[in-house]
Amino acid sequence: MAYPVQLFAHLCFTLIALLLFPVLSEGSDQFLMRCGATSSASDSDGRTWEGDANFGLALPGLSAKASYLDPSLPSRVPYMTARIFTSNSTYSLGVDPGRMFLRLYFYPTAYGEHSAVDALFSVTAGTYSLLNDFNPSQTAQAMGHSYLIREYSLNVTSSQLSVTFSPSPRHTGSYAFVNGIEIVHTPDIFTIPVPRFANGGNPDLFPISSSIGLETMYRLNVGGVTISGKHDSGFYRSWEEDSLYIYGSDGMNFFKDNNITISYPLSMPDYIAPIDIYETERSMGWNARNNMRYNLTWILPVDAGFYYLLRFHFCEIQYPMTKIGQRQFVIYINNQTAVEQMDVIDWSGGIGIPVYTNYVIVTVGHGQTDLWVALHPDLSVGTEYYDAILNGLEVFKLQDNSNNNLAGVNPTPKQNRDGSESHGQDKTNARIPAIIGGGAASGVLALFISSFCIYVMYRRKKTNYTHGKTNGNPPNGDGELLLATSHSKDLKLCHNFSFKQIQEATNNFDEAFLLGKGGFGNVYHGQIAGMKKVAIKRGNPLSQQGIQEFRNEIEMLTNLRHRHLVSLIGYCDEESEMILLYDYMANGTLQEHLYNTNKPPLPWEHRLVICIGAALPAHRCKEGHHPP
Ligand SMILES: *[C@@H]1O[C@H](CO)[C@@H](O)[C@H](O)[C@H]1NC(C)=O
Ligand SMILES: *[C@@H]1O[C@H](CO)[C@@H](O)[C@H](O)[C@H]1NC(C)=O
Ligand SMILES: *[C@@H]1O[C@H](CO)[C@@H](O)[C@H](O)[C@H]1NC(C)=O
Ligand SMILES: *[C@@H]1O[C@H](CO)[C@@H](O)[C@H](O)[C@H]1NC(C)=O
Ligand SMILES: *[C@@H]1O[C@H](CO)[C@@H](O)[C@H](O)[C@H]1NC(C)=O
Repeated sequence: MAYPVQLFAHLCFTLIALLLFPVLSEGSDQFLMRCGATSSASDSDGRTWEGDANFGLALPGLSAKASYLDPSLPSRVPYMTARIFTSNSTYSLGVDPGRMFLRLYFYPTAYGEHSAVDALFSVTAGTYSLLNDFNPSQTAQAMGHSYLIREYSLNVTSSQLSVTFSPSPRHTGSYAFVNGIEIVHTPDIFTIPVPRFANGGNPDLFPISSSIGLETMYRLNVGGVTISGKHDSGFYRSWEEDSLYIYGSDGMNFFKDNNITISYPLSMPDYIAPIDIYETERSMGWNARNNMRYNLTWILPVDAGFYYLLRFHFCEIQYPMTKIGQRQFVIYINNQTAVEQMDVIDWSGGIGIPVYTNYVIVTVGHGQTDLWVALHPDLSVGTEYYDAILNGLEVFKLQDNSNNNLAGVNPTPKQNRDGSESHGQDKTNARIPAIIGGGAASGVLALFISSFCIYVMYRRKKTNYTHGKTNGNPPNGDGELLLATSHSKDLKLCHNFSFKQIQEATNNFDEAFLLGKGGFGNVYHGQIAGMKKVAIKRGNPLSQQGIQEFRNEIEMLTNLRHRHLVSLIGYCDEESEMILLYDYMANGTLQEHLYNTNKPPLPWEHRLVICIGAALPAHRCKEGHHPP
């Protein structure tokens, strides 16, 4: 009796799955497509991506596999597969009309016989022009990233969105590619009239039309850590640390006082920004005399010749800031006064209540330019504390209304730039090490340096590999071939801890033990019974991705021991966990000792020793592999 019932249930399930699939993929509020793939897979945030072959679409182009796995990729999905286009090709996606985020994922590397430098193409979506003669390889290199995610907010008026890829006719052998396409529907989060700053003019109101297309340029968790899409309040936006863009003195970071609960006002939906954004802030610091002498400044490289919408997020999160008039400041955008007497308590209505404000600024010229955002105590009023704060900052590029264009030019790599203009670029390049740690290591100097070393090693090997023209025999999308020299050295030198030991050490991953958070996972401090204190990096448990990277990091750090490199103490791979244990660095991050903080400054001699120390292992790696 049981058997036919089961069979029937199984058939029903299959049928439901078949019927549901197109509905889910086209009618739901999100859509994740791995291009060039035939199966579904999860990324490091645990989100499931469906292969583009399973959408019942007419598939343009060819599917391809990446020839190299960069260890700084947050996950294999969607980066290791791609769809390659050698002529104009269109994905026609079924969508619900309305406003949505469209995210395009690009991992510039060799795909079969197509080398990374030949990828040069334009992308349009519906009536919007998104990218023009875009070279992902050059762009990624200039930004110090291994991959790129372009995010657009578009108002689509039909039930079909055509995303078209056109290889550039200006370069022979050019091709287009894309690794992933994501769509997330959103309410109307932009169309409010905001004060506008023309160059030198007085503020007037700039109407933002409901059909406008925007591109996200920056989304910063000011004074806080990177927040991955999974921890966003609604639309899988990722928020980046702001410290890379600070110019000059960087003030102090604060976390909210313990007895404060962040509560959104009725007028503000929580999808505007997650609570984490408001829980941390950057302030100028407690030294009033010092604060009067400088501006807390961010420099953000952008494309010239566009309007930009800047959204500032504020929340008072410290006692005694509860009354109007206690902390008032000026916001400057591109050296013009955007607002005076900015008083967060006055605007929000009280401590722990978030508030946000928007401005539009126009930039002129061509190529790249820097957007300056600066805060300074407002000395024109009787403010009690000479200080200024900011909790979050978003910058969106607005489409050029004359041609629906959002595309800028490819940024120039640093070495080709005039040194006198390079501050913004330098800051951007400073991202290299931070990104490789998967963002998780932001709070720990040790992890920072170790990641940097690994990065250098892989980069060198990658270069050799590409130059070696071994493309005819790709290593099946894995980093294995590149690790050949250090392959047999294994996990033996490194202690294997049980998951129970790790749980005990961190009080079962108690938030109170948290040092930092990021795309890869969380970093905790903890004490294993009978041992010294350790830093514990826990890979996201939901993710099946990153196992190769996990193994690579163990192999690398096991083979590399250096006084200036944090030591890997052990690992834990029980219950599909990916946990690494390092020496705990009690004195905090290098950054905290270099910039304006209350920690003692590092003597110059010491800094030099660190630099030389960091350079040495990289040198050794180069020798260890085949010479260029
Ligand atoms: C391909 O697309 C580009 C840009 O959209 C356009 O200029 C070109 O004419 C198209 N080529 C063909 C063969 O359709
Ligand atoms: C999209 O544009 C249409 C027409 O321009 C407008 O009526 C609608 O309100 C817009 N939707 C959103 C969410 O902005
Ligand atoms: C919250 O704690 C701070 C000290 O951290 C104290 O000054 C303040 O009075 C407390 N406020 C309330 C409402 O408990
Ligand atoms: C703002 O002023 C600084 C000097 O104070 C200058 O270097 C910078 O270029 C100016 N920024 C803009 C966008 O005008
Ligand atoms: C802060 O920036 C504004 C606008 O660029 C400038 O006028 C002012 O001199 C700056 N203040 C300090 C102390 O640097």
